Amino acid sequence: MDEMDLMEGMKSLLIRNGTVVTAEREFTGDVLCEGEKIVAVGEGLAVPEGAEVIDATGKLVFPGFIDPHVHIYLPFMGTYAKDDYASASRAALVGGTTTLIEMICPGRDEDPVEAFELWKGKAEGLAACDYTFHMGVTRFDAEMPDKLRRIVEAGVASFKVFLAYKGALGIDDAELYETLKLAKELGVIVTAHCENAELVAKLQAELVAQGKVGPEWHEPSRPVRVEAEGCHHLMTFAEQTGAHVYVVHTSCADAVEVIRAAKARGVQAWIETVVPYLVLDKSAAERPGFEGAKWVMSPPIRDKSHQPVLWQGLADGTISTVGTDHAPFDFATQKHMGHPDAAKALNADFSPRGEGGNFTLIPNGIPSVEERVKLLYTAGVKGGKIDLRTFVRVASTEAAKIFGLYPRKGEIAPGSDADLVVFDPEFRGTISATTHAMQTDYSGFEGMAVEGRPELVTVRGQVVVRNGEFVGAPGSGQFLRREPTHF
Ligand code: URP
Ligand code: ZN
Ligand code: ZN
Repeated sequence: MDEMDLMEGMKSLLIRNGTVVTAEREFTGDVLCEGEKIVAVGEGLAVPEGAEVIDATGKLVFPGFIDPHVHIYLPFMGTYAKDDYASASRAALVGGTTTLIEMICPGRDEDPVEAFELWKGKAEGLAACDYTFHMGVTRFDAEMPDKLRRIVEAGVASFKVFLAYKGALGIDDAELYETLKLAKELGVIVTAHCENAELVAKLQAELVAQGKVGPEWHEPSRPVRVEAEGCHHLMTFAEQTGAHVYVVHTSCADAVEVIRAAKARGVQAWIETVVPYLVLDKSAAERPGFEGAKWVMSPPIRDKSHQPVLWQGLADGTISTVGTDHAPFDFATQKHMGHPDAAKALNADFSPRGEGGNFTLIPNGIPSVEERVKLLYTAGVKGGKIDLRTFVRVASTEAAKIFGLYPRKGEIAPGSDADLVVFDPEFRGTISATTHAMQTDYSGFEGMAVEGRPELVTVRGQVVVRNGEFVGAPGSGQFLRREPTHF
């Protein structure tokens, strides 16, 4: 590092007179950053010589938001997710998210250490925000304890398992048991996709055999009780092993109830929901002409009647976090893998009635990393469902606490990383694929009005978004080493 770099690295930034909001408090004041850290928080702080001063009068000042569940490099369902770290981190930052936690999803026959290196390599040199990973355990054999131990020692203090995607990423019960036992021993938390894989496979086969092949049949193939059974399954295994578990993308009241009951009897469980479930409902996937494929994700987007339970769970602390499960696939090409024309081209008509197509071939997932904060603020805070502190808690602080990043991330206090979002609550906008930073050719939230936006964003003291525009540098993001905390 030469002298100029050193001076740039130590630059002071004073964000003045904003409404500072953390998970615990809300007050009008200033935040002073030096180099990569916050060094003072208070009222009327003196301006250090040479500091950049941002007037945040009328603005909200939040800790950088954390998305605990994204997919960026994702080989899945015969294709690859569309973003790379440059595009995904740019979209995240424009949306106010300064830390991403990505799922490493190796195939069952892949070496986990090599997978960890592969995923890490995809981020290095491209990420403009900070990042870390959940290590996917998609197989458990005699070599795994040693290999997973090495990955934990390298700074990845959480695992991911799939109780779905039979024959692909999914593991069986014996593997689940061994994974949870090892996690308990190592003090790492296990994140889990909970759906009963056997039931999904049976229901899919029955629906397809009946000619029910359009995207609207995706939800009936994975009904709420199938998700609740997956949660019950995980809770039973967590109870037996004493492992700490985190249920990702919880979509429905039935699943929340199962986990709530387990928590009440002492199971160490945390619940994540994701933004599509809060602002969309299953009618999206029922849109005619195959358009519904845009909203095929798993678990599926549910009936609207589940949303009040999700909002209430966030408000009362039953649900800890809101992620995205960002899993971007183009509509025109990738989602169309389940379209009748694709079936015709393959000479593979799956329907006995001849309609062709097959919802089970539509890559699951929705691009959303850019929109989480705005949508949660609009629907949650402005919609009167959650207050500002809860908003910060579920979109930032709680993820930092659960995944061993707190108080480095998720907090505005001296010593924390200077990851800050100056948010303009007066901004009004409309979400559209024509203006979003994500790579996909569609937005699952097209035309939705949003209130407020991140106007200025910093990552470790560097301004990476100004006037809502990305001004960061690909490659400036850092891998965040995390230590085991779940003993
Ligand atoms: O539909 C989804 N959720 N796609 C991404 C993979 C996963 O299950 O998280
Ligand atoms: Zn999943
Ligand atoms: Zn996911």
